[in-house]
Amino acid sequence: MKYHLVTFGCQANERDSETIAGLLREIGYERVEEPTQADLILFNTCCVREKAENKVLSRIGELKDLKSQNPHLIIGICGCMVQQEKIVEKIRRRAPHVDLIFGTHNIHELPELVQSIKNLRVPQVHILPDREEIVEGLPSHREFPFKALVNITYGCNNFCTYCIVPYVRGREKSRLPEHILKEISAMSEDGVLEVMLLGQNVNSYGKDLTPPTTFAELLQQVNAIPGLARIRYMTSHPRDFSDELISTIAGLNKVSRHFHLPVQAGSNDILRKMNRGYTREEYLTLVRKIKNTFPEASITTDIIVGFPGESEEDFEDTLKLVEEVRFDSAFTFIYSPRTGTPAAKMPEQIAESVKKSRLQRLMKLQNRISLEINQQLKGKVMEVLVEGESKTSPEMLTGRTDTNKTVIFPGPLSLTGKLVPVKITVPQTWILKGELVEVI
Ligand code: 5AD
Ligand code: SF4
Repeated sequence: MKYHLVTFGCQANERDSETIAGLLREIGYERVEEPTQADLILFNTCCVREKAENKVLSRIGELKDLKSQNPHLIIGICGCMVQQEKIVEKIRRRAPHVDLIFGTHNIHELPELVQSIKNLRVPQVHILPDREEIVEGLPSHREFPFKALVNITYGCNNFCTYCIVPYVRGREKSRLPEHILKEISAMSEDGVLEVMLLGQNVNSYGKDLTPPTTFAELLQQVNAIPGLARIRYMTSHPRDFSDELISTIAGLNKVSRHFHLPVQAGSNDILRKMNRGYTREEYLTLVRKIKNTFPEASITTDIIVGFPGESEEDFEDTLKLVEEVRFDSAFTFIYSPRTGTPAAKMPEQIAESVKKSRLQRLMKLQNRISLEINQQLKGKVMEVLVEGESKTSPEMLTGRTDTNKTVIFPGPLSLTGKLVPVKITVPQTWILKGELVEVI
């Protein structure tokens, strides 16, 4: 039997898809890239912005023909979108060809659900709004043998006013350190060189455990695992990035010098309306501390333009902050109202045309800064973890530096999964081109 799985959204979904792949493998399914060859098609969905949701809804519509050609085909939808009752109703109404809907807290039930559909031939809908206990020990099937995603927390308690994540992923829950360390040790024995520790707010890791622990303590323990070369984490909340954490990272050789610190906006008024819990001045102080401690650090961010009530002046505060910090790169988004969040009901929603033009201005500024920063890397030798052949530049290898920059260079495919020194020759806005340095 064959399955086709499409993953939308963030690394939390990618990690869930690895579990889905692991579970399906245990019940005899193998993965195919072509939906036409599949007996089971699954979409693991994202609802953080409306655009992502609409894309999924139209893709679901397109599957209707496949189902009429093959009535035994099972079509399933999971992930954050279906944690919203309204969306489930919509899918059931508009897409009766969907057989299976399961939520982010029901992934472990997938084998039984598939079996029930086969036995009973009736659609299965299993969605829990939240779950107290974390389900441990599920199988997983990773995309790369040499790097791995590792959940450290689930859910989010921050309730930023624009964000739907706390409503669809539930309350913040930390995994026990022993479970995380056991998983990473096994991965490292299996040849994993790089781990990415995942949580909506990794900096608040461990506060809910008894006894409580901290993210800094967890990093120390992960750093001590033999065989690992690199430790990344995603996402940090600037409010919770403590001095203790900065000094801990300074003493840990494996922890990446990449700091992804979503700022979201540069105006204090907007930051307050977003419920971010820090001011622009506090954010800038944090960046200064990081730059002083790690001169080689790369700092990246997420920014939303067009939040309700954002005036031209507020937006210019964002531009000024971007100039001041000089981010290596930024994910920039147009504010998308999400039903159920406080911001969707706020007055002074910004016109689409204004949002678009602000996004263009912001991207232009950020691209200029990214290129200027990357140009300073010309001639530098950087250690790259090779990921394989580049999809955009065939016959070239692609990999990442410790600072999470993509490097493209000629070399044999046998270097995949290895750490190699690469000299940067042609820095560009999004990527660095380079050449392998001979190791003597
Ligand atoms: N509209 C636009 N961007 C959003 N993000 C989260 N919610 C929204 C929304 N409603 C962005 C934030 C977050 C990133 C993952 O997605 O910048 O950091
Ligand atoms: Fe959303 Fe804020 Fe939680 Fe991030 S920290 S997931 S932006 S509520």
